[in-house]
Amino acid sequence: MNSQFPERRMRRLRMTPRLRDLVRETRLALDDLICPLFVCPGQGVRREIASMPGVFNFSVDQAVEECRALADLGIPAVILFGIPEAKDEQGSGAWAGEGIVQRALRAIREALGERLVLIADTCLCEYTSHGHCGLIDHAGAGAPQILNDPTLELLARTAVSQARAGADIIAPSDMFDGRVGAIRRALDADGFHHTPIMSYAVKYASVFYGPFRDAADSPPAFGDRKSHQMDPANAREALEEARLDADEGADILLVKPALTQLDTIASLRRAFPHPLAAYHVSGEYAMIKAAAARGWLDEAGAVWEATLAIKRAGADLIITYFAKDLAARI
Ligand code: PBG
Repeated sequence: MNSQFPERRMRRLRMTPRLRDLVRETRLALDDLICPLFVCPGQGVRREIASMPGVFNFSVDQAVEECRALADLGIPAVILFGIPEAKDEQGSGAWAGEGIVQRALRAIREALGERLVLIADTCLCEYTSHGHCGLIDHAGAGAPQILNDPTLELLARTAVSQARAGADIIAPSDMFDGRVGAIRRALDADGFHHTPIMSYAVKYASVFYGPFRDAADSPPAFGDRKSHQMDPANAREALEEARLDADEGADILLVKPALTQLDTIASLRRAFPHPLAAYHVSGEYAMIKAAAARGWLDEAGAVWEATLAIKRAGADLIITYFAKDLAARI
């Protein structure tokens, strides 16, 4: 027989902070956090991103210092994005041996050894003159097409060059079909059997990436990313995307964005044994920052609640621009 009010009182376990601590179901840990970093050309550069107050473009030397600060706080991992000196039609800066991310990887490794897990975001959009994630076919009659299969080789090349520069994890974020398999084969052929792939398996075409495109200088010059990123209306399709990437050899699955896809995070958590990551993206960061700046929200409370929700939904790893703030409170 189920007990009822007045015998059963849910408020009993909420009466003091210590009691609430004791029965809390979800806890954030430092080991959950991955901090994104944007690396740009130059020396001594620390440029704040207008739409992401508190987030910076760092030149390689400054990125090293930032990584030292993150490691000192106990944050276990960073994910690196690059803003190259020059862009071209193919995005060749992505796989250049002396590319911006490759140089950052080597410099951070040299300064910090194994203190941080170095994750390389693998995509071409920051490196192409047109801002798209792959090669473009302008030849057809209609709108230019973003080509899938010919791009795979370039993504694989990028992943191998990032692994050679010392990346611990390769994180393809492009959402092209077949790229996890192509990257796995290329890494293995180059001797990187032990380099894991964290696949952005479920990445929606989201307006919440807006500020990132300022930060990484990667807005598409024409069109959008809807021919490869998922329709935010679709939930069942996420399971199929994740299955395909798992079958192609993804070691970690990632869902992005996070707060508008908590149901997707929960369904992947139930369906797959893989470690699951979620990306609390730039627009989600900017919303909290903007409201807090106007005094409309308590920033620390909002950050804590949002991050907890992502963890509670089932994410093991959380990529967040709030990593430093969170680390200070954990
Ligand atoms: C690159 C990439 C993007 C993000 C991560 N990797 C942008 C995009 O797909 O347009 C977005 C991250 C964020 O908004 O914080 N493909």
